[in-house]
Amino acid sequence: MSSIKILYSQEEIQKRVRELGEEITKAYMGRMPHLVCILRGAVIFLSDLIRYINLPLTIDFMAVSSYGRGTKSSGVVKIIKDLDESIENRDVLIVEDIIDTGLTLEHLTKIFKARNPRDLKVCVLLDKESRRIVNIDVDFIGFKVPDEFIIGYGLDYNGLYRNLPFLGILDNLEVGGESFEKTT
Ligand code: IMP
Ligand code: MG
Repeated sequence: MSSIKILYSQEEIQKRVRELGEEITKAYMGRMPHLVCILRGAVIFLSDLIRYINLPLTIDFMAVSSYGRGTKSSGVVKIIKDLDESIENRDVLIVEDIIDTGLTLEHLTKIFKARNPRDLKVCVLLDKESRRIVNIDVDFIGFKVPDEFIIGYGLDYNGLYRNLPFLGILDNLEVGGESFEKTT
């Protein structure tokens, strides 16, 4: 049986997301950021975050899936749903739920840079720093988290738990074969 331990409460998350919104507002003063939400995990974070950004801004969505840790160091990212709009000459801010090995964001930033944005920055809610295997510059970070499996506030395990209003640690995980498709 799995159990859930609360890592950050709804109140703690709102406080930190508000602070991030204020940091982003300062960093982009006089500009119009284009926030790209990586589906599906970051959707709750994005929707809270933009309400704390006091600037004109636009949003778009990309859905990707990445292939399992351990088996491939190439970290292939498959685009399941591409952006609706061009990012050329825009001040793009990628909004992601969690950075773990960094492979997903490494691939994403490569794809984005090839499309010639004016500026590209990255905002993650959670940073599982101890698991990093590639070097990635992350500009805005909500919380540094331990090497545990985290669910809630958009993050899932097998598609479930995204609707929890808090962030929790899921214990007693059963992970099947060596290579599995992570949902993002
Ligand atoms: P990375 O490529 O190893 O950095 O993995 C990033 C993706 O894996 C994230 O976008 C998440 O969707 C997923 N992921 C990594 N760690 C967790 C976790 O603890 N809970 C839920 N999803 C996770
Ligand atoms: Mg994700």
